[in-house]
Amino acid sequence: MEKYVIRGGKPLHGEIEISGAKNAAVAIIPAALMVRGVCRLENLPEISDTDTLLHILTYLGADVRMINRSTVELDCTHVQMDSLPEEMWNMTRKIRASYYLIGAMLGRFGRARTTMPGGCNFGVRPIDQHIKGLTALGADIRMAGGFINATASDGRLKGGTVYLDKVSVGATINIMIAAATAEGRTVIENVAREPHIVDLANFLNSMGADVRGAGTDVIKIRGVRELHGGSYTLIPDQIEAGTYMTAVAAVGGAVRLSNVIPKHLECISTKLREMNVEVEEGDDYVLIRRDGPLHHTNVKTKPYPGFPTDMQPQMTAVLCCAPGVSVVTEGVWNNGRFKYVAELKKMGANIEVDDQSAFIQGVEQLTGATVKACDLRAGAAMVIAGLSAQGVTKVEDVVYIERGYQDIVGKFRALGADITCIDEPEETEADLSGRKIG
Ligand code: EPU
Repeated sequence: MEKYVIRGGKPLHGEIEISGAKNAAVAIIPAALMVRGVCRLENLPEISDTDTLLHILTYLGADVRMINRSTVELDCTHVQMDSLPEEMWNMTRKIRASYYLIGAMLGRFGRARTTMPGGCNFGVRPIDQHIKGLTALGADIRMAGGFINATASDGRLKGGTVYLDKVSVGATINIMIAAATAEGRTVIENVAREPHIVDLANFLNSMGADVRGAGTDVIKIRGVRELHGGSYTLIPDQIEAGTYMTAVAAVGGAVRLSNVIPKHLECISTKLREMNVEVEEGDDYVLIRRDGPLHHTNVKTKPYPGFPTDMQPQMTAVLCCAPGVSVVTEGVWNNGRFKYVAELKKMGANIEVDDQSAFIQGVEQLTGATVKACDLRAGAAMVIAGLSAQGVTKVEDVVYIERGYQDIVGKFRALGADITCIDEPEETEADLSGRKIG
């Protein structure tokens, strides 16, 4: 089992490049299923979630050619399958974004069959808003036995009006994809406004769709008969950049992050400045510096342009050593998303969780320990805590981290961190009981 071993306490210095946005990539790859022709995607992150989706498309009959580490050419012209074969079920159950295949298959074939999606486990993750939206476009959707079956009456979706009862990134994306080739006009109200929503709209438009309003809370789509090939460069990853920004805040040092869109980072930069971290913005880079003491602060996560929920665990990890009391409140996920707090406590953090809030009493220093990556962002938080702690931290279950961070170990090493990935055999029950007796 792969683990990261971190010897903490070394300030971070240097420059790294941020990769393409994971949550844009996992929407755009399924959306490419709708395209007849060659679709070239650049600035694609090299992470396991995109590998999984490319593998699924290949299995469905797409021609997938890696041009270099971050560029792929996809040709889905000859894909004919409108359902996921059994060999693919393990993969679609592993990742959240597999549900975008429903919107894409419905848009392309008027029919879709796949498994219920997987993804990070931070409580119940309903898909009622996806169903509501696709139903408004004329799909008949049935869910049974862990599968989703969807059919468009008359074989093609029809434009409609949808009001999302909850601002949902996933539902906004799924409905946008499906509506791109639906007959007539679709209006989606109360949509998510995250940068990757705008990126998906730009991608669809560059392939011939007519999507307007992405980035505001109403998206209007005039359906076109079909999408054509083209070339598209994905935006940089807001959360990957934010993760390195918070790492510098926690550990100290001075780091330049290139290939970023500073506007997307404003909500994070503003919080870090409140905490006595310097953030300087250039056209496509940010410079983060922290050499003085941290200040405590309060953070509440909200849909974009609010503070991102996907930065909540990393921010908590930084605030563990900010003198005074900080309060981190989760405003997107109902169950708080605070499972990882138990891991930070193993490192000496003083945190109490009450419902949707974590109350953090800053301690002088964290101490190295063996901790688990409970999910993708919680895993990133463990790495940050380990980098700032005294002694050795081992982070287990790093497979979650590698779903969404391209070469996190290499990037931190380039900044001078002492972090390595080791492959240690898993302890068997016999080892464990032997240890108890011994
Ligand atoms: N919700 C509903 N009904 C729905 C859909 C969502 O009630 O049909 C609720 C959820 O339970 C949640 C809120 O709406 O309380 C927001 O959920 P959303 O649909 O926006 O989340 P998602 O699309 O499942 C994406 C990202 C997550 C990120 C959230 C919020 C992808 C693949 N995942 O999930 O990213 O936390 O948006 O920004 O884009 C991550 O990258 O680590 C990650 C988990």
